[in-house]
Amino acid sequence: MNAKIDHSHDRQKITILKEGENIPALVDLGIFSKDYKIIKSKYDKFKQINRFIELIDDAFKESNINEISILDFGCGKSYLTFIIYYYFVEIKKIKANIIGYDLKADIVAHCNEIAKNYNYENLKFYVNDISKGNLYSGKIDMVVSLHACDTATDYALEYAIKNNVRYIFSVPCCQHEINNEICKGGDFDILLKYGITKERFSSLLTDSIRASILENKGYKVDMIEFVDFEHSPKNIMIRAKKTHAENDKNLLEIERLMKSYKFGQTLYNLIYKK
Ligand SMILES: C[S@@+](CC[C@H](N)C(=O)[O-])C[C@H]1O[C@@H](n2cnc3c(N)ncnc32)[C@H](O)[C@@H]1O
Repeated sequence: MNAKIDHSHDRQKITILKEGENIPALVDLGIFSKDYKIIKSKYDKFKQINRFIELIDDAFKESNINEISILDFGCGKSYLTFIIYYYFVEIKKIKANIIGYDLKADIVAHCNEIAKNYNYENLKFYVNDISKGNLYSGKIDMVVSLHACDTATDYALEYAIKNNVRYIFSVPCCQHEINNEICKGGDFDILLKYGITKERFSSLLTDSIRASILENKGYKVDMIEFVDFEHSPKNIMIRAKKTHAENDKNLLEIERLMKSYKFGQTLYNLIYKK
């Protein structure tokens, strides 16, 4: 983080998670100091989870649900997972059942310990490779993922599509797959000339294909800037809500791009080829 950036304006806009408030878990997870001040090195992470919660709040402000079930794919240290639980249970007073999956056993154990300390009895973390398919089979209302690496995002979206999950909030990260495969073959070859433009083009292509598949599968999709670039360069959120029947309207365009530029895409394979 650039020490010279003035964050005073940002700070005024923070509404749901307030600095200075005793928010359980944020101290233990190292985002807040013991006197509930944001730790400088965690400011960007704080901005991310705060914005994530604001976007979830936008979707649930008017809702009168009394229970919700959520899966977090690639939860890592689970700052977001804890805050989503806090938001629904402590702020909205809604019963929340939340599961976080990650590959790292030590981090998962630590998160379960913190959840236990706070009596967050319906917040559970499991060591699980989400690409292997051994995932929760009950009803899930919302899938979230924040910076789940590369194709891990595709497995989260596949789960949501195949399990008829109503809400998706997904911020992808390190979209390497298309970047590793793409070859010249169409009107946009100029973007493949330089490494940085190729990488950004591939990443936008990846997320546009994911969004288009979600549309085909009955979701209304928004692609939104999640936080300012200074807080994370991986700052596009795919926000989706199941609203309509399935169709194939984007399929030809996706397949045309894949054929012209000679790349594969995991979500496409999982949904259309499996
Ligand atoms: C960049 S971290 C993000 C963690 C957290 N969501 C956050 O924003 O702080 C990505 C996480 O995804 C996890 N991950 C990557 N591939 C995975 C897979 N196949 N199954 C489960 N977790 C995975 C990694 O272990 C890592 O903790």
